Parts: sequence; structure tokens; C-alpha cells
Amino acid sequence: MNLSDARLALRDARRVAVLTGAGISAESGIPTFRDAQTGHWARFKPEDLASPDAYYRYPALVWEWYAGRYRDVMAATPNAGHELLARLEREKGDGYFLATQNVDGLHARAGSERLVELHGNLTTARCEVCAHIDALPAPADFVPPPVCSRCGGRMRPNIVWFSEFLPEQALEAASDAFTAADVALIIGTSGVVYPAAGLAFETLERGGTVIEINPDETDLTPRLSFSLRETASRGLAALMDG
Ligand code: OAD
Repeated sequence: MNLSDARLALRDARRVAVLTGAGISAESGIPTFRDAQTGHWARFKPEDLASPDAYYRYPALVWEWYAGRYRDVMAATPNAGHELLARLEREKGDGYFLATQNVDGLHARAGSERLVELHGNLTTARCEVCAHIDALPAPADFVPPPVCSRCGGRMRPNIVWFSEFLPEQALEAASDAFTAADVALIIGTSGVVYPAAGLAFETLERGGTVIEINPDETDLTPRLSFSLRETASRGLAALMDG
């Protein structure tokens, strides 16, 4: 498959499923998950902070890390990649579905609605006692840890951590959409974290086309229909507008 085949496949597809990872937010200035961390956080690997075990042992440290990421995300804005996907949703209507591994909330801020956030959202917190979810206060007013507005319990980041299960309904909806998709787009993800990375295979197994947009080769590349070696915004523009 070449670029013009991929463009035609996307144009003609009635059902389109999209999976995004940290790479789509790179152009908004948010470091990807596997980029080296900087400053004070350089001595930690994200995998060591994004875990129930880390939170159990060092809740203040884990909250401090998320509070910093929350500040960065709120200071950022969606980029052309997020906006092109919101436009693709308007074009495809009911036939469109977006699953993101990102917790930054930028897809929703760009206007995506047919969206599931498979790994949660760092702009919200979940009560450890009653599971109620609250939005975090504005970054300038936020002193972690947040306290539940319903029961007063301590709240944790509303993130799916390593070793935790993905929300069942969100995963099922994503799996249904990728199984039914004529075309799936896999954008800005290293494709190493399952089950999200396996969604591409559900489309391929049913005879659908899977197009990757990523400046670098990934573990998924050899198995996909076509790969565009571009940033998310340039790759989407090439596919949608040529
Ligand atoms: P990674 O940091 O693993 O991968 C980011 C990918 O984005 C890499 O393949 C880069 O080549 C690519 N990339 C970089 N800049 C890009 C750009 N401008 N446009 C497009 N792609 C670009 O992030 P994820 O694959 O999202 O899970 O990581 C998956 C999950 O691993 C995360 O959601 C997180 C982590 O475990 C949890 O926190 C549960």
C-alpha cells in the first residue's frame, strides 16, 4: 500500500477507529511517556511512579509528580493533530471512534466526543473510599492530595496504573470499534503496552486496513498495512488533505 492508496482507503471508509498515544501530544509540548524525564524527576522512571505500589508507599511523591504533569497539560493547548481528528469525527459521524492512551485530556479539549480514555485522565481524581470522581481545582489553587467532595475521603489520580485493569466498558467499546473498522489509524504510540496495542490486530484479522503515523518505526510497524514516517499533525494532514 502507498500513500495514495491509504488516502483513498480513509476517504472511502465508513467505519474508522483511531488509537493515539503520547506522540500526538508531543507537538503540544508534552513529553512522551518514554522520553527521558528532566530536572528533579530525572532519577525516576515513569513506570516507577505510575503504579499502585508507588502510591501506597509514597503517596505525596506520586501526587507531586501528577500535579506537575497536570500543570503542564493545563498550560498546553491541543495541536493540529488533535484538531484534524476532531474534524475526521465530524466527517465520519457514527462511523468514527477514538481510543486514546493519553491522560492529558487534549482530545476532548480539541472537540473529540466519540472518545474513550483507556488509561484515565489526569485532570480528575477518584475517591479511594467511595470511587466518586472530581475535577481537580485550577492548577494555581491545587494542593494535593484532593479530598472527595462527597465523602471527604482521600482521592488518588484517576489514572490506570501499571498492573491495574483497564475500565471494562471502555475497552469493550474500543475492541468493538476496531473489530468493525474498515480503516484503523495508529498514531504516536510505541505500541508496547497491551491491551491497547493489540487493537490494531483486531482490525487486521477482519480484513481491515491499518495505517500507522509515527516518525519512528515501532514494534507494530512490520505487521501493519502502511506506515507514514511523519509527525501526527503532518501525517494526518497528508492522509486527509494530501
Ligand atoms: P510512548 O512514549 O511509549 O511512545 C510515544 C511514541 O510517539 C513513540 O513511538 C514516538 O516515536 C512517537 N512520537 C514522538 N513524537 C511524535 C510526533 N510528533 N508525532 C507522532 N508520533 C510521535 O507513549 P505511548 O505509546 O503512548 O500507560 O505509551 C503507552 C502507554 O505506556 C502510556 O499510556 C502509559 C505507558 O505505560 C499508562 O500510564 C498506563
